[in-house]
Amino acid sequence: MKYLFLTCFLFLAAPAVHAEVDPHSYAEPSKVTMTSLDLDLEVDFATQKLIGTAELTLDWHDPDARSLILDTRDLEIESIKAIDAQGQEHAAIFSLDPRDPIFGSALRIALKDQVPVVSIRYRTSPKASGLQWMTPQQTASKKQPFMFSQSQAIHARSWIPLQDTPSVRFTYSAHVKAPKPLRVVMSANNDVKHRLNGDYRFVMKQAIPSYLLAIAVGELDVRVTGPRTAVFAEPSVIAAAAKELEDTEKMIETTEKLYGPYRWERYDILILPASFPFGGMENPRLTFATPTILAGDKSLVGLIAHELAHSWSGNLVTNASAEHMWMNEGFTTYVENRIVEELYGKEVATMQLVVDDQELLVEMQDIAPDQQLLITDLAGIDPDEGLSGVPYDKGRWFLRFLESRYGRDEFDPFLRAYFDHYAFQSITSTEFLEFYSENLEKKHLGKVSSAEIDAWLHLPGIPANAPVAHSARFDAVDKAASDFIAGDLAATDIQAKDWVTLEWLRFINALPETPELAQIKALDDAWDLSNSGNGEIAFRWYVATVRAGYTDARPQIAAFIERIGRRKLVVPIYEELARTPDGKAFAIEVYARAKPGYHPLTQGSVEKVLGL
Ligand code: BES
Ligand code: ZN
Repeated sequence: MKYLFLTCFLFLAAPAVHAEVDPHSYAEPSKVTMTSLDLDLEVDFATQKLIGTAELTLDWHDPDARSLILDTRDLEIESIKAIDAQGQEHAAIFSLDPRDPIFGSALRIALKDQVPVVSIRYRTSPKASGLQWMTPQQTASKKQPFMFSQSQAIHARSWIPLQDTPSVRFTYSAHVKAPKPLRVVMSANNDVKHRLNGDYRFVMKQAIPSYLLAIAVGELDVRVTGPRTAVFAEPSVIAAAAKELEDTEKMIETTEKLYGPYRWERYDILILPASFPFGGMENPRLTFATPTILAGDKSLVGLIAHELAHSWSGNLVTNASAEHMWMNEGFTTYVENRIVEELYGKEVATMQLVVDDQELLVEMQDIAPDQQLLITDLAGIDPDEGLSGVPYDKGRWFLRFLESRYGRDEFDPFLRAYFDHYAFQSITSTEFLEFYSENLEKKHLGKVSSAEIDAWLHLPGIPANAPVAHSARFDAVDKAASDFIAGDLAATDIQAKDWVTLEWLRFINALPETPELAQIKALDDAWDLSNSGNGEIAFRWYVATVRAGYTDARPQIAAFIERIGRRKLVVPIYEELARTPDGKAFAIEVYARAKPGYHPLTQGSVEKVLGL
């Protein structure tokens, strides 16, 4: 696409731009791109607004261009100044398009000349889709308010006017003022020794796409966990977080051995309040993570491996639009599993693959064939809507297919070279295929046919010759499950005392679509699953209890979905409850209490499920 881009620019007078690269942005990167962003913001909890200026440095490509189009959503634009090469400021004329419910409002800035800098004075809305403002009551410590951003996929535009497309990369700096006892952190250089003086400055010197802009403000403690790692969390969570995440430096070293140096200097982790709508978000230098990964036994730190892996696949080599998301999430899911294998052993890594493969196949039964493709057409479609396991696990499966055909001796250096070759670039599947063709296919002719590649990329489903993962440890779990379901094994006789999380997931997934009520009750009596402190076990279990009509678990379900706002964990429970009138009434009642604590994204997903 990069080449296509260039061709358009050189040979067509007026390139019809954004559609060629990114259907989710109004910006016109073939005419002008932002190369740096300078933010000066005040965090105002009283009005739930960010107030300040965004200064964009521009690189003009089209000599005829005289306007700058930016993405915004629900921003109040106060004034815009054009700043010329001599530093002279001129007021610029601008207009905001009507608000599109998915894409927001294009901000059109008319300029007399191709000025190097534009400065925009603005404030955000309390409803900004990319920010969550929380009262003290909604935090773990309950003493101070909290605010955090989630910019991916297209929410950066709700807190900064910019070119909100991953095809554009820029450096940034920020000056942020916040109420005094609170700490401000960003996806940039965070000073673990910073005084809590309400005045923070950040620099991100590596060029990043807009979806990696991130900020959080709250009562945050910090613990150093290694030479280049630290954990930020609320005071009541910090000790558990530092313990659970103590292997982070080892994880980085493991990944470096496979794929080359970590290029972002520090790797810190921020544990957010439980309403964080995702498991993790790979904000550069500062991964954002849900507290639900703090299971106490490190069984869920694979999520950190995933976010860390994005430091290569995603943050370094970036999908140019959400249509090529498999290049971020599929590569990352592949790398995540390689890290888990190195750190926690082949057995654990294989169990993860088996669970993920099975869950993908089940999920795909309910996904339309055209949504099962790795490269998707998302024109007019909200990128938050189409989220499924396909880019993650089909993408990862494709890479494992290549790995199995070429062997790790060839595939590992190939992947490493790919990350180096496209470092700090935004690319599409075409560039991946070019590199693949030159560096693997042509060197080992006959190992993989182009028809096989086409099937993975352009056909629905999973190709029949996909490698099948097998876990010997799961054989025992499967036997226990089938004996239990057949009534030949009592719940109390299942040898599950030493099962790790993945074995429980396998067992719960083996239960029938509609489990017997008596069997679910017996399992709960024997293993107390309704009180599991492990979110991955808990949400699958709660779905099974709802299917079985086991209403005894409702108090725990209510407590779970009131406390946690992570979409992946709560939405499936709501979906299952919504299938019966009684379940739906219960879900609506619990949701009314949970709603104020949910992130706008989670609210949107749940309200869709409940038809509210
Ligand atoms: N980058 C994603 C989160 C994301 C994807 C946000 C698309 C918005 C749009 C992140 O790396 C991710 O995949 N998180 C997963 C982690 C899991 C797969 C280990 C999550 O949040 O569940
Ligand atoms: Zn990811």
